[in-house]
Amino acid sequence: MTATTSGSSPDLSVNVAGISFKNPILAASGTFAYGVEFEDVVHLPRLGGIVVKGLSKESMIGNPPPRLWETAAGMLNAIGLQNIGAPAFLAEKLPRLREIKNIVVIANVFGYTREDYERTIEILNEGEGITAYELNVSCPNTQQGGLQFGSDPRTLDELVTTAKRVAQRPLIVKLSPNVTSIAQMAYVAQESGADALSLINTFVAMAIDPETRKPRIANVTAGLSGPAIKPIALRMVYDAAHAVKIPVMGMGGISTASDVVEFMLAGASAVQIGTASFWDPCATEKIVDELQEWCTDHHIDQIADLTGAMILE
Ligand SMILES: Cc1cc2nc3c(=O)[nH]c(=O)nc-3n(C[C@H](O)[C@H](O)[C@H](O)COP(=O)(O)O)c2cc1C
Repeated sequence: MTATTSGSSPDLSVNVAGISFKNPILAASGTFAYGVEFEDVVHLPRLGGIVVKGLSKESMIGNPPPRLWETAAGMLNAIGLQNIGAPAFLAEKLPRLREIKNIVVIANVFGYTREDYERTIEILNEGEGITAYELNVSCPNTQQGGLQFGSDPRTLDELVTTAKRVAQRPLIVKLSPNVTSIAQMAYVAQESGADALSLINTFVAMAIDPETRKPRIANVTAGLSGPAIKPIALRMVYDAAHAVKIPVMGMGGISTASDVVEFMLAGASAVQIGTASFWDPCATEKIVDELQEWCTDHHIDQIADLTGAMILE
């Protein structure tokens, strides 16, 4: 291995909202189950952290199939937030995650009303071994005509304020990209009490089979993720990071160490890997290894120095 300027191996550790991560690579929600399912393919303590599948106050069965469709450089999904529910997560998954030790577990939370979010966070507050909450605001608000919580500044403000009041752990607000101004939503989340932001969630999209004239996804519309969205995600991370003082976790199409560096230069303090785990279940761990090599080769002593370090001229 080539030496860094100081001759030792690069320091990959980052701090986001008072949480220490051994490196900036986290598994993104919905693409890594509850972490334990990946135990045999990924050395979980090697990762900066794991964001578990979105949890609701009770279990949910999700949408009918087909729910996934591969697109050019991307993937459409309409899983419909299927999950085992917060109580079952505490009883069945968290004990094993605690046993493995040395992993940062972030619980992703969603709901269809503000009370749903509140109740789910209250349940999770009882769970030992959760480091933070990530609030998925890309959900239809059933009390207000199904408009996404994260698409309206006022609704976002109310939701984040409520979540912050009940959360006994740092609150990361995961922004929806389906908005006119990501900078505005980032600012609203910060002012409402978010300790950090993560972005982006998937873009609302769709595909049709021209032969059958039927939608490729039973739900008709779905979320687009993967490399296809990376340049837009990067721009949104850049805009959000420059609108707030709180740290930002970036995601959207990341599949290599140089993608990670791009997001950090744009202003991210850490990143999450989603769709890449679908074509290579070891992607998260491989990217950590690759990132270490990248830093060594580029004489980067401390990866945290890359955050916001894009050079404009
Ligand atoms: C199959 C699938 C399920 C997902 N489920 C969730 C979820 O439960 N909660 C959430 O906040 N984001 C969810 N996401 C969004 C991802 O966490 C991530 O924000 C998005 O896919 C962009 O990153 P990527 O391009 O690296 O996949 C899901 C994505 C996929 C592909």
